[in-house]
Amino acid sequence: MFGDCLRGLHMRAVLKLGGSLLYDDTGQILTDRVRAYAKVVNSFVEDGHSMVVVVGGGKPARLFIAAARELGASEAQCDWLGIKIARNNAELLCAALGNIAYPKIVETLDELETAICPGNVVLMGGLTPGQSTNAVAALAAETVQADMLLNATNVDGIYDRDPKETGAKKLDNVTVDELSQILSGTGTRAGEYKLFDPVAIRVVGRSRIPTVIFNGNDPENLLRIVKGENVGSRIVHEPDK
Ligand code: UTP
Repeated sequence: MFGDCLRGLHMRAVLKLGGSLLYDDTGQILTDRVRAYAKVVNSFVEDGHSMVVVVGGGKPARLFIAAARELGASEAQCDWLGIKIARNNAELLCAALGNIAYPKIVETLDELETAICPGNVVLMGGLTPGQSTNAVAALAAETVQADMLLNATNVDGIYDRDPKETGAKKLDNVTVDELSQILSGTGTRAGEYKLFDPVAIRVVGRSRIPTVIFNGNDPENLLRIVKGENVGSRIVHEPDK
């Protein structure tokens, strides 16, 4: 599917980088991982393509949200903590990317439209309460009419049930309806959104955004997907009726 895009002149991709990929179990920042992502992103855009990278909140977002909730914060206040921490995580990648990155973490979709141009990388964290950074990535992909949305997470793809359950099977292709079904009943409180929240699913579905969910522990997977290799799970869209 994406191999064909490579033959186009200028490709636009959105990468969602799960915050969990940037921290170890003790909460230390994995600077080598940030550097490795800067390298693969750079090799994607150096041919004149452009990329929006939306970075998630990860462990620090969950820690701050849990503490704030215990201290009496509202869900919206907790969400704002996650939004800001995701933006701080995006600053780390911005630092590693150097001058190919738009120098400011973009905070609105309006700003995104003016920031994106061939050969550059635009970074985002959170946008607005009530959603996750997966929704930000889907909205960014819709806004820039991205050729692909690549979702780097810490699992190999979409499973037919909780991947921790015995017998769970990874799906190579999944429709938006199947994805909604599989993820129904997952959390909707600050810090608890799972792979795809309802906003992300709706936006990917309505704009038929070609999407791949893959294991981001190996940053090279990003380049494999762009070359058309079969990695992770693809969200497929039914042909128009
Ligand atoms: P995420 O849950 O999206 O971070 O954002 P994450 O680390 O990427 O998640 P994984 O690791 O991929 O699963 C952290 C929190 O920030 C708030 C939400 O509370 C979210 O749980 N947030 C983020 C918003 O409220 N709005 C946004 O637009 C983005």
